[in-house]
Amino acid sequence: MPLRVVQAGAGAMGRAWLAAVAADPAVELAGVVDLDLDAARAAAPGVPVGTDVVTVAERTGAEAVIDVTVPAAHHPVTAAALAAGLPVLGEKPAADTVARALSLAAASEVAGKLFMVSQSRRWNPRLARLRETAAGLGTLAFAATDFFRAPRFGGFRERMAQPLLVDMAIHAFDAARYLLAADPVEVSCRTWNPAWSWYDGDACAAATFEMTGGARYVYHGSWCAPGADTSWNGTWRITGEHGTASWDGDTDPPGPPPAPGPEGIAAALDAFARALRTGVAPMGEIHENVLSLAMVEAAVTSSDRGRPVLIDDVLRDAHRRALTDERDPAVRATLAAWPDVRTHLRR
Ligand SMILES: NC(=O)c1ccc[n+]([C@@H]2O[C@H](COP(=O)([O-])OP(=O)(O)OC[C@H]3O[C@@H](n4cnc5c(N)ncnc54)[C@H](O)[C@@H]3O)[C@@H](O)[C@H]2O)c1
Repeated sequence: MPLRVVQAGAGAMGRAWLAAVAADPAVELAGVVDLDLDAARAAAPGVPVGTDVVTVAERTGAEAVIDVTVPAAHHPVTAAALAAGLPVLGEKPAADTVARALSLAAASEVAGKLFMVSQSRRWNPRLARLRETAAGLGTLAFAATDFFRAPRFGGFRERMAQPLLVDMAIHAFDAARYLLAADPVEVSCRTWNPAWSWYDGDACAAATFEMTGGARYVYHGSWCAPGADTSWNGTWRITGEHGTASWDGDTDPPGPPPAPGPEGIAAALDAFARALRTGVAPMGEIHENVLSLAMVEAAVTSSDRGRPVLIDDVLRDAHRRALTDERDPAVRATLAAWPDVRTHLRR
């Protein structure tokens, strides 16, 4: 029997998810939720719609939720779904702050339900091949991403304080953890916005992370860089004691071609449905994904303060804020039982 899902969010990415749901025989669309009911109806004609995810799930007998709302709504929508006993597959970022992402990790534990974050660019078989190549390079010293494009989105991204780091660089940061099989320790970051940028916030960033094991990961990016575009994955270079691997982010890296199969959000959806059947935690499970968001928040804080920032300090501050802000007593009790947050997160 296909997994019956309610999708929250019928915007630009929501439509891509609706197409992925329609193409996957393992899932079936039960309803669509959006604050804008006309958008929900237009995205999925003839399907039950509403503005509240739990109400629509109850009305339609849905078993799971896909959360493709704007980042600020990820916490309320996902927390409500988990509290109602519904597992959730959410778009990145897990939440708009690390504190709220920790709250969702605790909410997932309290409910005993999966919360998986879809980092669509992880589900790329070429990235998996690059990871295999990197694993053969011995001790790694250096990895770098260059990301330069000039998209004109309109909408929420052009109003954000840190559009590049928060909305885009999270993909590269998450991929760096995956490729290096390492976690972030510290970051130094500067962001800035050229006078002619069409973004309100900083569209350019340069960040250097120290990773566990000693390798450095360097990210250079801009979202207002006309000309000589890199791919959407950026270009990559990884150097270890036995050599260097590079990737243009688009074409097949050296080695056998990737096996045919779903990629991107289609692969994430497939993995979510499989994880619910098998109980095996998928890539992107919230306890694994939090560190990617912590890299973003640490980079933003480093740029704001003009000095290096330890990831452990970001996690400690986020934990304190999560405890202060949490309204659900059971989630609060779970958070309170985490004396050292990092021990509750996993690679
Ligand atoms: N993985 C990728 O490559 C990728 C690409 C684009 C967007 N995204 C992510 O997808 C998410 C959505 O982005 P988008 O471009 O579709 O945004 P969008 O603004 O086009 O659409 C978001 C929709 O969510 C709805 N919404 C807001 N609050 C809601 C709530 N509380 N309940 C129900 N609906 C609510 C809005 O009305 C809107 O229709 C974001 O988290 C974004 O970062 C990921």
